[in-house]
Amino acid sequence: MSVGRGTRLEVSKILEVVTHSPEETLAFGRALAGELQPPCLVLLEGELGSGKTTLAKGIVAGLGAAREEEVTSPSFTLVHEYGREPKVYHVDLYRIENPRELETLGLDDLWNQQATVIVEWGEKLGDNPLAPRVRIQLEYLADEDRRILVERVAS
Ligand SMILES: Nc1ncnc2c1ncn2[C@@H]1O[C@H](COP(=O)(O)OP(=O)(O)O)[C@@H](O)[C@H]1O
Ligand SMILES: [Mg+2]
Repeated sequence: MSVGRGTRLEVSKILEVVTHSPEETLAFGRALAGELQPPCLVLLEGELGSGKTTLAKGIVAGLGAAREEEVTSPSFTLVHEYGREPKVYHVDLYRIENPRELETLGLDDLWNQQATVIVEWGEKLGDNPLAPRVRIQLEYLADEDRRILVERVAS
């Protein structure tokens, strides 16, 4: 399937799960971490409360960069850094309103590293950068039910 705007992107390996508790989402994140090979950009998309930060905790823990309880939401600080090489960065673009603000974050430095970069509100990144990426859409279904759709997008 071609979804690029100017760029050809291959979407493959679509995986869909429904979790029924935060613990299940954490466990899914830990399992998913085993499939991620740095450098890798993980885009997390979905409304507030859909479970992006919860999933990020599981991924960071699964990568062995920090314990789940050490991973907190970067919604105020925007970027958190975990572990040693290969590092894991956890970014939250919720407060970013335009491309100029995005530039001030200095994310370009991150793309050039052998890092795993997890980005909440990843849709705000647009087409840049063209690192190998995984796109994850989270959807609130009910109280403790969340649909998680994972696509591996090769650029
Ligand atoms: N299945 C689930 N997966 C993830 N979070 C869940 C689930 N069920 C309930 N929750 C709750 O929903 C909220 C998700 O918050 P959070 O992960 O911070 O979302 P986001 O980062 O998308 O705003 C948490 O309070 C969490 O306890
Ligand atoms: Mg969050």
